[in-house]
Amino acid sequence: MSIVKSTTENILKAAEIIRAGGTVAFPTETVYGLGADGLNPISVAKIFEIKKRPTFNPLILHIDDKSKLELICETDNNKIQILIEKFWPGPLTLVLPKKKIVPEIVTADNPTVAVRMPNNQIALELIKRSGVPIAAPSANLFNRLSPTKAEHVYNQLGDNVDLILDGGSAEIGVESTIVEIENEEIILLRPGGITKEEIENLLKCKIQHKQKTTDPNSPGQLPFHYSPRTPLKFLSESYLKDIKNKKIGGIFFSKQSVEFNFSRIEILSKENNFREAAANLFSALHILDEANLDLILVEPLPEEGLGLAMMDRLKKAAANFS
Ligand code: TXA
Ligand code: MG
Repeated sequence: MSIVKSTTENILKAAEIIRAGGTVAFPTETVYGLGADGLNPISVAKIFEIKKRPTFNPLILHIDDKSKLELICETDNNKIQILIEKFWPGPLTLVLPKKKIVPEIVTADNPTVAVRMPNNQIALELIKRSGVPIAAPSANLFNRLSPTKAEHVYNQLGDNVDLILDGGSAEIGVESTIVEIENEEIILLRPGGITKEEIENLLKCKIQHKQKTTDPNSPGQLPFHYSPRTPLKFLSESYLKDIKNKKIGGIFFSKQSVEFNFSRIEILSKENNFREAAANLFSALHILDEANLDLILVEPLPEEGLGLAMMDRLKKAAANFS
């Protein structure tokens, strides 16, 4: 089994694997990433192979220091500096015009590249020791649930990854927020760990949420994605009346809100707290997906703050079974 503790020695070993062109799964504050040398197209190709991900879906480059941003993309925009100052290191990915040094396979031939600086000491140390930006998608198979624990990575990718660094449970639990900056306009491409409201308050402007549903360049933005193997639907009481002799799992925000004999339930946050719920979301989905159920029913959440990112993931999971 290639899961190891994130000791200094193992981080150095992992960095050596990255430098030698291999792959390492590592923790970030959002979800675990499947990393490779982001400037080496052959190493990056291994990521697509392991994930069984189509190569038209571009990757995020991870850097360990704000000053590295200008090596890989154009940064001459005032809003970028404000966003970076406030949210990096953290769950915000910026899509910016790429520089030549970034291989086409990373950006799926787009003229832009996605970049972020994660807020996780293990990830930062790994990138620093590797000496290159690390290209990393979430460390799951294409279209499946994102991993928030090292075991989730191993269960999906097994020994195809050279090394899995175990850094415990991901703190945030949903992927980074992705924004594209075009001249003066900020477009939200994927809701995530930094809320739309936080960005709007900082920049004192409204940002648009653009779902490029027909653009295959960003499957994270397609209507289906992030899916368990067990069918998943949103909970409605009328629907429960017709269900007989089926093993049903329930996911609730703070308490079981309907009367029904569920085979198993998961509560996302007994404290009624969005941060805690986001941190538990994928983990709850993984648990129910392993529980041999016929169906998972999820209570819809309010689409504000982190609720927007959680509902985005859940709607995409449900869309696979509609
Ligand atoms: O929190 C995260 O962002 C995690 C951790 C590991 O950092 N990474 C992650 O990567 O979620 P991934 O590959 O699962 O999702 C990245 C999303 C994809 O939907 C991809 O299409 C989009 O970012 N993306 C990457 N480059 C892009 C670009 N140049 N333009 C538009 N979208 C882009
Ligand atoms: Mg992903």
